[in-house]
Amino acid sequence: MTNIPRACVIGNPISHSLSPKLHTYWLNRYGIEGEYTALQVTEDKLEETLRRLPSQGFIGANVTIPHKVSVMQFADQITDRATLIGAANTLIFKEDGRIFADNTDGYGFMANLRQGAPDWDPKAGPAAIFGAGGAARAIIVALADAGVPQIIISNRTRPKAEALRADFGARVSVVDWVQADKMLEEANTVINTTSLGMAGAQEFKVSLNGLQPKTVVTDIVYTPLRTPFLDAAEKKGCITVDGLGMLLHQGVPGFERWFGQRPEVDEATRRAVLG
Ligand code: ATR
Repeated sequence: MTNIPRACVIGNPISHSLSPKLHTYWLNRYGIEGEYTALQVTEDKLEETLRRLPSQGFIGANVTIPHKVSVMQFADQITDRATLIGAANTLIFKEDGRIFADNTDGYGFMANLRQGAPDWDPKAGPAAIFGAGGAARAIIVALADAGVPQIIISNRTRPKAEALRADFGARVSVVDWVQADKMLEEANTVINTTSLGMAGAQEFKVSLNGLQPKTVVTDIVYTPLRTPFLDAAEKKGCITVDGLGMLLHQGVPGFERWFGQRPEVDEATRRAVLG
């Protein structure tokens, strides 16, 4: 077995993950001796895998679908933001075998938005969110942290949006899916956190007539990079930010903790991951 520091991404399925490309690019770019691989792990093997990895030279891991929630039960230490979100995507294996869990999805979302729309002011008005799944939870926590005054959620299954309001309090309100267009009129920021518009998934069919020019609009879908949702927003005169940067930025804190170098997210990084 080699002694070089190793990290991986754990999920199922995992073959489409871009994380190995991203981290391997960074390792090469900074001349760091290390390795980052993809590991397909089923739910019943999750604990055993996590207990075994440190003895095989692994210093940490990213966690993706479907293990982001269940991995929390095996962590010895959990950051406040991961607790608040109820899921973890970044693990650090301590030398004594303990597992430290963090969630960097909200950080990745925010860093992408700030990079793609440098003049965006979170405090300038409400944020409107399509969707109420795991990604929406991480994004709500990040938006609230950044000082967004009001967060309006619309989800096909309304009770899931109501559950987020119950968790996150008075700053959050819910609009019916068939009336989602209404939440756009007053929004300063609009975010699609659903899978609608993703290659192979259903189209985004909700009316976007309420969108106002200059609104910052972003999509967490990045296949395709320019989703129909972003195209429609651009036609309305909005400032659009694609979702690839969220994936790239969420990898930054993990890479820094594991390999001791804070990596850049720039055009070269985007090209390396897309190439
Ligand atoms: P993630 O962790 O990526 O957020 P998720 O937790 O499965 O994934 O959430 C997926 C989101 O996409 C949900 O808000 C889901 O809406 P429901 O709660 O009604 O299922 C939304 N979504 C998926 N397919 C959809 C569709 N065809 N129409 C509308 N919303 C959809």
